[in-house]
Amino acid sequence: MKSSKPRIEVNKYVKEDQNLEALTGGREGAIYKKENTVIRPLNAWSGNVHRLLYHFQAQGITECPRVLGIEGQNEILSFVDGQTYNYPLTGAIASQSALVSAASLLRKLHDASVSFLAAGCDQETQWMLPARSPQEVMCHGDYSPYNVALSGETVVGVFDFDTAHPAPRVWDLAYAIYCWAPFKTDKIDALGSLSDQIERAKHFCDAYGASEQQRRELVDAMVARLDALVTFMRDEADNGNEQFAANLEDGHHLSYLADIDYLKAKQVRISERLME
Ligand SMILES: Nc1ncnc2c1ncn2[C@@H]1O[C@H](COP(=O)(O)OP(=O)(O)O)[C@@H](O)[C@H]1O
Ligand SMILES: [Mg+2]
Repeated sequence: MKSSKPRIEVNKYVKEDQNLEALTGGREGAIYKKENTVIRPLNAWSGNVHRLLYHFQAQGITECPRVLGIEGQNEILSFVDGQTYNYPLTGAIASQSALVSAASLLRKLHDASVSFLAAGCDQETQWMLPARSPQEVMCHGDYSPYNVALSGETVVGVFDFDTAHPAPRVWDLAYAIYCWAPFKTDKIDALGSLSDQIERAKHFCDAYGASEQQRRELVDAMVARLDALVTFMRDEADNGNEQFAANLEDGHHLSYLADIDYLKAKQVRISERLME
């Protein structure tokens, strides 16, 4: 979900500061590093994301950025150390250890978020993406290989919580596995054959400790999650978001639609193996 956030022409706060390093892998010209901090644009939901990050910190979770403050229209977060990657997945990010450690970290975040929701986050709280019932955990919302940091072949950090929202565990698990298997039809983004993808999905489920019911629901959840993503892109474009209008014009949604067809066509085979 690379382009689901408001477009930033040039981040004004950072425009003249010579000590800044532009970070790649997200929105261009929007995210900067300064010493050990990251400077990112604030959004309407950032206050809630900060509450979530404070909560993780209070729970002793060290893999997430810490909120250091707000300056102008930007948030200042701690820099999460580690190597970052993007598609196509090659090298350490494509390893089984990266996959398994990513799944374990997702489980840890989900478990730690239960008390965040219990402490009174309700339907009215604003997030970028709509809350879904049952609100079991706080989903990261974009738990993909380009939003984690690695030390060697181990995932040791995660960032970019803009898409966080309350939803069932399987909702986040589904999108994460779609991204990590990855069940993508794009030749560059795909990694291995369908059998390889299914084995990776199974390893992710095992390392997360997915229940039988979650495994049964997984493919349907992946399809529903991608469908929601395309709907979100269309709604944003209809509401005047130029970035989304341009993305749709360029056909960015077509790969998601192709992946939905792929998942539906392979559903029985994927589900059977996940349930073994
Ligand atoms: N707190 C952080 N620690 C380390 N690296 C970060 C952090 N935040 C962002 N980055 C780096 O900057 C890139 C872009 O930031 P990200 O928050 O993912 O932007 P976007 O919201 O546009 O996707 C990331 O892919 C990552 O490499
Ligand atoms: Mg990102």
